[in-house]
Amino acid sequence: MTASVASARDIARSLLNNTEGGENSTPAADPVSPVPAPAAAQPRPGGTGRQSRGFADQPDVVAARERAQSALAMEKLTKMPNPLFIPRQGFNTSVIDGPYGATTNFSNYNYLGLAHHPKVIGAVQEAVGKYGASASASRITSGEIEIYPNLERKLAEIYDVESAVIATSGYLTNSGVIGFLMSERDAVVCDALIHNSVITGARWAGARSMTFRHNDAESLRGVLRMSRERFDRVLVVIEGHYSMDGDVGQLPALAAVAREFDCAVMVDEAHSIGVFGAHGHGVREHFGLPGDAVDIWMGCLSKALGSCGGFIAGSAELIQALHTSPVTTLTVGPPPSAAAAALAALEVLESEPDRVARLWSNAKLFSSALRERNLDLGFSEGTPICPVLVPGEIQVLYASSLLLQRGVYVGPVASPGVGPGQERLRFFVTAEHTEEQLITTADLVAEVVGLATEVGAAIAM
Ligand SMILES: Cc1ncc(COP(=O)(O)O)c(C=O)c1O
Repeated sequence: MTASVASARDIARSLLNNTEGGENSTPAADPVSPVPAPAAAQPRPGGTGRQSRGFADQPDVVAARERAQSALAMEKLTKMPNPLFIPRQGFNTSVIDGPYGATTNFSNYNYLGLAHHPKVIGAVQEAVGKYGASASASRITSGEIEIYPNLERKLAEIYDVESAVIATSGYLTNSGVIGFLMSERDAVVCDALIHNSVITGARWAGARSMTFRHNDAESLRGVLRMSRERFDRVLVVIEGHYSMDGDVGQLPALAAVAREFDCAVMVDEAHSIGVFGAHGHGVREHFGLPGDAVDIWMGCLSKALGSCGGFIAGSAELIQALHTSPVTTLTVGPPPSAAAAALAALEVLESEPDRVARLWSNAKLFSSALRERNLDLGFSEGTPICPVLVPGEIQVLYASSLLLQRGVYVGPVASPGVGPGQERLRFFVTAEHTEEQLITTADLVAEVVGLATEVGAAIAM
């Protein structure tokens, strides 16, 4: 323990030396970012606008460089593994094989193990054999294959709406669809913890973006009362299952407020489909709502459905418009393999409902074990996304490295994924984890968070 604290002081000193170089410091040879996933929007600092150094003084480029230097310094000083961009062999499941040997893995959102389910792999192989590796065209001009509408019909059924459309990327589904539907006269009002892709969409549209306090219907009411009249259309956007915090979007209460002020509602179901509801049909099923409770159901094929891409489900008119919008016509059709994988995954979801039940019993077991060990789980509600707060960018990286040394992999999340002071280890629990893995990991997490806290105290001295 004492040795760890001593090295923590060295880490702090080294990091200070590294950032003192400021503008003139040499860029790291091996740039890495301590943030594995983008999420909540952060205010974008202004730059100098000077272009003589290309983008070297662009604030986001500077921040990335400084983070890379910190990570590199820590790696050199401590000889501890850098937990980012670790190459993996084999499937992304509860145990992965990488440079640190067999490692219990909590960093994938393959919640139900469908990304490597034999039926999903079989469907992918068949689709590649039949249609090749790429759609090789936009859907509107020869890219169309029958798997797409088959998948879209199933998604529309799941969300109890008239129609659905798939797209090649979840991130670009949000950004592209919001960018397409909204305009300079409009506003996008988001939960404070909304995914970055939504904010990007508002920016692309030239719409004003505003936030309300996380999951707080009164805060939404306050924002709309103050601003609704200034805009033509207003879109209220929430997540069904918050990707960084593991709590449920309070859809009925928030949608009711949105309707009161004549606003449209969009729900990002990236981490809900396959996870919430007895059949894994998402928060609509969880709350027992009709499909038209929401105007736009957005989701990802990349999480529980074990594939890649995004979708929108909604009214026939809306989907018809999206079918001929830039989101689908100015980009290639999704890879046939990706559409086939998602369709097969939905079939497995139907035929093997016990996977969802196992996912939830694992999630409950793990979060109870962490709470019993007095760890801070933030807003977590015992869902399969389980954050453990480890405030401080260095501390969270350190905790993740220590866990990796002990045979457990979990992604550290820092700015801009979350705000300063909100750094966390984000655990994804899956249906494939065993009870033993969950309990052993909870013990190890308690140990390393204790050590990381001591590091924080040493740095502050
Ligand atoms: C809430 C949310 N929406 C959208 C996305 C983007 O999805 P994709 O990774 O499929 O592009 C993510 C990614 O993790 C997410 O968490």
